[in-house]
Amino acid sequence: MAHQHTDGDSRVAVVTGAASGIGSALAAALSERGHQVVVSDIDGDAAAAVAEHIGGVAFPCDVADPEQVDSLLAFTLNTFGGVDDLFNNAGVGSHGRIAAMTRDDWAWMLGVNLHGVINGVTSFLPALRRSAAGGRIVNTCSMSAVAPLPGLGAYAAAKAGVLALSEVLAAEMADEPDGVTVSAVLAGPVRTRINASARHRDAAGTYTLADADLTGPIVEHMIEPDEAAARILRGVDAGDLYIVTHPALGFRARARAEAIAAAFSPA
Ligand SMILES: NC(=O)c1ccc[n+]([C@@H]2O[C@H](COP(=O)([O-])OP(=O)(O)OC[C@H]3O[C@@H](n4cnc5c(N)ncnc54)[C@H](O)[C@@H]3O)[C@@H](O)[C@H]2O)c1
Repeated sequence: MAHQHTDGDSRVAVVTGAASGIGSALAAALSERGHQVVVSDIDGDAAAAVAEHIGGVAFPCDVADPEQVDSLLAFTLNTFGGVDDLFNNAGVGSHGRIAAMTRDDWAWMLGVNLHGVINGVTSFLPALRRSAAGGRIVNTCSMSAVAPLPGLGAYAAAKAGVLALSEVLAAEMADEPDGVTVSAVLAGPVRTRINASARHRDAAGTYTLADADLTGPIVEHMIEPDEAAARILRGVDAGDLYIVTHPALGFRARARAEAIAAAFSPA
């Protein structure tokens, strides 16, 4: 069952990857609404700086590690007595061709971008179901989940997994009295530090994925993180399953959906 939310209600929101970019803008916007915000990130110092700036509390957490995500839940419950919103936003975005990728590349990309979300859902779902205001899970997906591009194979594979997980969870929760509202953000290009993602990986690994130069046609579609956060929160307020940040790029998703539909049509 979808819950209705009124602006001004004080909610407890946890945002992962909140030390930079979209997560930091979401944390700021939620705090401005008067919510209690846990600013979480693998970069604990940067998270602490953001928390101080926006009036939230910081907690360091690598979302790829289930135990650290359990600790993030425990910290949130100890601090605020409950949790209403989980923004599974942490993500990394390096580029490279699948043929060249190593096991470490796959483990890193799927560990953060897919297992990070799985860990968030697994740890937080029981507590979110206890939210009197109605729990919400918002997964920062990507347009690449519905319009995968060459060079983004590992990223798209992880984000497609997040989209499928979100769709199934939303359907399963729809009939339950304490079901949470689930959203998947099909984000387009946002000006963030995603092109400096490689800094967080284990130095002992062997990687071919590399930080991309954000140049070319993508640049003209770039929006600022604050604008992305505003668009995302409008969708969250509406209880939307699919939240789109760049309606003008819909042709990409449509072309792919039509190709799949055509394959199902009798010749
Ligand atoms: N920027 C874009 O164009 C774009 C487009 C589509 C989707 N997204 C998605 O938006 C989300 C936010 O990314 P962003 O663009 O704001 O990038 P960003 O690099 O500015 O912010 C991501 C944050 O996640 C943190 N992080 C990285 N690995 C982590 C881990 N293992 N555990 C916890 N935190 C970790 C980083 O320290 C950083 O603070 C990601 O899921 C990304 O895939 C971004």
